[in-house]
Amino acid sequence: MLVSAKDMLNKAKAGKYAVGQFNINNLEWTKAILLTAQELNSPVILGVSEGAGKYMAGYKTVVGMVNGMLEELKITVPVALHLDHGSYDGCLKCIEAGFSSIMFDGSHYPIDENVAKTKELVKLAADHGMSLEAEVGSIGGEEDGVIGKGECADPNECKAIADLGVTMLAAGIGNIHGKYPENWEGLSFETLDAVQQLTGEMPLVLHGGTGIPEDMIKKAISLGVAKINVNTECQLAFAAATRTYVEEGKDLQGKGFDPRKLLAPGFEAIKATVKEKMELFGSVNKA
Ligand code: 13P
Repeated sequence: MLVSAKDMLNKAKAGKYAVGQFNINNLEWTKAILLTAQELNSPVILGVSEGAGKYMAGYKTVVGMVNGMLEELKITVPVALHLDHGSYDGCLKCIEAGFSSIMFDGSHYPIDENVAKTKELVKLAADHGMSLEAEVGSIGGEEDGVIGKGECADPNECKAIADLGVTMLAAGIGNIHGKYPENWEGLSFETLDAVQQLTGEMPLVLHGGTGIPEDMIKKAISLGVAKINVNTECQLAFAAATRTYVEEGKDLQGKGFDPRKLLAPGFEAIKATVKEKMELFGSVNKA
């Protein structure tokens, strides 16, 4: 059964480790992540962006697939199904569809509007026993080939949002989605420290987990990060493994064109990436 991310993240914050949020795109992604979590006895959060939700034929399809896998694959570790960077309407749809966790990304609104909308969703999420992630300070990333710099959140604004009763808070600390550019200045631990000082027990979320050096990940966890989002890294691993398979001409040998064979190396590559991250984040055997 899907669970809210609340308990797993409060435990992670207290135990100084982080739970990974791995974004899903299809059946192979979902199965690879769930099986790895079970093998490593780790809690896990499946992230679904609005775009990926649409791609997978809607949130209800996603809920059906994930619930089916939990049962058929006998997954017993805690699993949360979480909307990633949701709009207000997206959050409403996921509540209705049977997700167990939502993120409302109001970081692009003026702070008063972000507060007002987050406040309404805090109540709705609580009524449904779901966890809610809020965001302050936008997270940069690549758009049309231009890599936007990650903004640093205002710690006082973080406190205002945390005080609304959200479950976890994503604060921009110079992190971005996708690959980091050569001249990236690194995470702002000063901002993270200030946010944690003001928000106390609140589990903090680090987006843009792909490509952040290990020592920075560990330092971020030591400063209160209890959830780390990884998406691009699984995509890169999947694409590289699939490329090798095709370049080696394996799809042309025997029944190598069968999708169950063609997609197998990518599936294994996702498993290996997720394992590496769970070990780095310290969530192994914390189910
Ligand atoms: P990456 O794609 O950089 O790993 O970021 C994932 C993320 O933060 C999803 O919200």
